[in-house]
Amino acid sequence: MTAPSEKDQVRIFDTTLRDGEQSPGASMTLEEKLQIAEILDDMGVDVIEAGFPIASNGDFEAVSEIARRSQKSIIAGLARAIHGDIDRCGEAVKHAAQGRIHTFVSTSPIHLQFQMNKTEEQVLDIITDTVTRSRNLIDDVEWSAMDATRTPIDYLCRCVEAAIKCGATTINLPDTVGYATPEEYKDMFVQIRERVPDSDKAIFSVHCHDDLGLAVANSLAGVAGGARQIECTINGLGERAGNASLEEIVMAIRTRADVLPYATQIDPQFLVRASKMVAGASGFAVQYNKAIVGKNAFAHESGIHQDGMLKNAETYEIMRPEDVGVKATSLVMGKHSGRHAFRDKLKELGYELGDNALQDAFKRFKDLADRKKHVYDEDIEALVEDEINILGE
Ligand code: KIV
Ligand code: ZN
Repeated sequence: MTAPSEKDQVRIFDTTLRDGEQSPGASMTLEEKLQIAEILDDMGVDVIEAGFPIASNGDFEAVSEIARRSQKSIIAGLARAIHGDIDRCGEAVKHAAQGRIHTFVSTSPIHLQFQMNKTEEQVLDIITDTVTRSRNLIDDVEWSAMDATRTPIDYLCRCVEAAIKCGATTINLPDTVGYATPEEYKDMFVQIRERVPDSDKAIFSVHCHDDLGLAVANSLAGVAGGARQIECTINGLGERAGNASLEEIVMAIRTRADVLPYATQIDPQFLVRASKMVAGASGFAVQYNKAIVGKNAFAHESGIHQDGMLKNAETYEIMRPEDVGVKATSLVMGKHSGRHAFRDKLKELGYELGDNALQDAFKRFKDLADRKKHVYDEDIEALVEDEINILGE
């Protein structure tokens, strides 16, 4: 296992309030955004992307207010490669102790042709102009190559070189459409960092969408390729299939420290609370089987698993529920449950039955579970009371 001092620190850049809010129907109020920003700041998020200031007066207000209130996190705002966007963003983030302008432009052939109607040379001029303008307003400037993973590597190298030359301090290479595979994504970072002059002057960042369900794997692969900032969202909220999920990344790095020699400064105890807060504010419920924060992430119903869990939790859990803010593992009583878990549940409810009564109650519990989707504690209590009455007759 790698000693903590040997681990490379990876920054967590949370974009729940920007890319997350771009999910159709996920708009949040100012009050909700302030609460979410507060918990992100408390949990140790390095950079909070608080919004897109040019998008609306409400977004400008939210970014400005989060900037005023943030205690530890850097507060970033997003800006297209347009002077008006950059200036408005600079206005909003200037209130922060540490503010950042995050400006982006598309670099892939398909975006240049259909979205921007610009040549490669014109886009290079835009990068030079907009990164310089941002740097004239603030020292901390992030530049993103939108659709980087579908951009020819030679041209991407030229774009990154231009951005670094003009003073970008973070270079983000997004997998905007969730198209990359982990090997490809890692290789892109390796190549760019090797080939671009002065690449060590900037921190490289991953930003992955989940269209193929690879966002977390790709993010970790990008880090293996040398990136040291991960852009992600609580619950993986985000455009289309969403962004890489913050809680999954943080817990993967913690749990597999043996093969992922990195550290984040996130306190995982906040993860479940933050997940509930974002689900409530966005109206996007978390699926039961969602890794880390789903209702079933630490629940077991099968008899074999419950038996193992009662003997040693590590038989079927690779993380401790308390570490992410869940009170305890839950052994759900259902038709797959075994005798061991049933006896334990009775004990928890205050009953101790002899062998024959237990055998009988267990059979009746199984019959009930076959008929009923959810067997609650009250159902088991009723069943046992019945058993006791039968014995008493
Ligand atoms: O997915 C993307 O490319 C983005 C950029 C604006 C960073 O969200
Ligand atoms: Zn995105």
